[in-house]
Amino acid sequence: MNAEQNALLTRTGPGTPMGELFRRYWLPALLASELPEPDCPPVRVLLLSERMIAFRDSSGKLGLMDEFCAHRGVSLWFGRNEENGLRCPYHGWKYDTSGQCVDVPSEPLESGYCKKIKLKSYPLVERGGILWTYMGPPELQPELPMYEWATVPASQRHISKRQQDCNYLQAMEGGLDSFHSSFLHRMSVGDDPLLKRDPASAAWLAADRHPMFVPLESPGGLYIATRRNADEERYYWRVTQWLMPCFNLFPPYEGNPYGGHAWVPIDDEHAWTFSIDYHPERALTAPELEAMEAGKGIHSKTIPGTFRPVANQDNDYLIDRVAQKERRSFCGVLGVAEQDAAVQESMGPIEDRTRENLVGTDNGIIMTRQRLLKAVRTVQAGGEPPGLDRAAQRVRAFAAVLPHAAPLQSAPEMQVTRRQPEQLS
Ligand code: FES
Ligand SMILES: [Fe+2]
Repeated sequence: MNAEQNALLTRTGPGTPMGELFRRYWLPALLASELPEPDCPPVRVLLLSERMIAFRDSSGKLGLMDEFCAHRGVSLWFGRNEENGLRCPYHGWKYDTSGQCVDVPSEPLESGYCKKIKLKSYPLVERGGILWTYMGPPELQPELPMYEWATVPASQRHISKRQQDCNYLQAMEGGLDSFHSSFLHRMSVGDDPLLKRDPASAAWLAADRHPMFVPLESPGGLYIATRRNADEERYYWRVTQWLMPCFNLFPPYEGNPYGGHAWVPIDDEHAWTFSIDYHPERALTAPELEAMEAGKGIHSKTIPGTFRPVANQDNDYLIDRVAQKERRSFCGVLGVAEQDAAVQESMGPIEDRTRENLVGTDNGIIMTRQRLLKAVRTVQAGGEPPGLDRAAQRVRAFAAVLPHAAPLQSAPEMQVTRRQPEQLS
């Protein structure tokens, strides 16, 4: 990878080629719980290097617009959310959820002055516990997202959010390289109720330490399959899904909820990690929810009132060198999400990919980069990038035990694309 390619892949601000690609998709902007009710406090949103303000007006309508007042640039985070609009505290200019200015108190109403003022704004829509935005050209806005986790009933899903202090790509690449679990997370999975392995899978994983990585193109991304020997006649497959431009899904061990992440660029040196647990068929249990809320599994404990993990760069992730020495934690950091953040952030704000030495277990990462670069070229040439259509989004991560001769495509879980929830538009 040369420096130009690395810059192309990692810069997502306005006007950048990768930024243009990201702006073609609905992206998670906030947890729905951040704007819980009409006229609640507005929230600052920094996404793809654009500073914005999100609010829910008196009638419950959602808005996402430029953070700064058109008058003299005060942050509308200080605004009063009242009577169907957000009013700037400095001189009282007021905006509705579309960013349209609806009142300039110093000017006579008849002058119609406020009609000429409009802040840049984007749609903000609630679905599946997330507030989604689309920041691309309005005429190219796709249908609302149909990822499986976003369409199951609320009782079947739990989502948390944390800030990651590095570029989105190196965070996302961690989610595509399942081999690191055998090292980084080695001593952390056994005692975590959300990650514990069923005996058969644990035995196959332990017996075959050299999995074969087989990435295959899917309509909207990649199936990143690992293949291990199960017994004389069968292979044990684990299939992670990567979906354009920044989503992944990974398979559970028997009985556990399914997992996924959305890695959304805040700016080029920070990303939101949305961590998703869901089950397609059943409600999450009380002990599962309790563990998720306590920061177990793929979730992490955050500093109250923020999305910053308690264990972070400033305190060396609370590394416990004794636990590392005594082999209670492979890297000394406790917690799977914290371990991921520690190693990924240690690469620096933007990893220098010109210095890498990639091997076979990096195949998924290599293909993801290629797919992203190809999609950038498609958009530059005026085409439509992959993954916008709903059938492409209806995929599931899974594990399967198949006879040697059976192709991966024969696993029944490959057919989840056929099932669409009918009640959603
Ligand atoms: S700066 Fe907002 S009303 Fe003057
Ligand atoms: Fe990890």
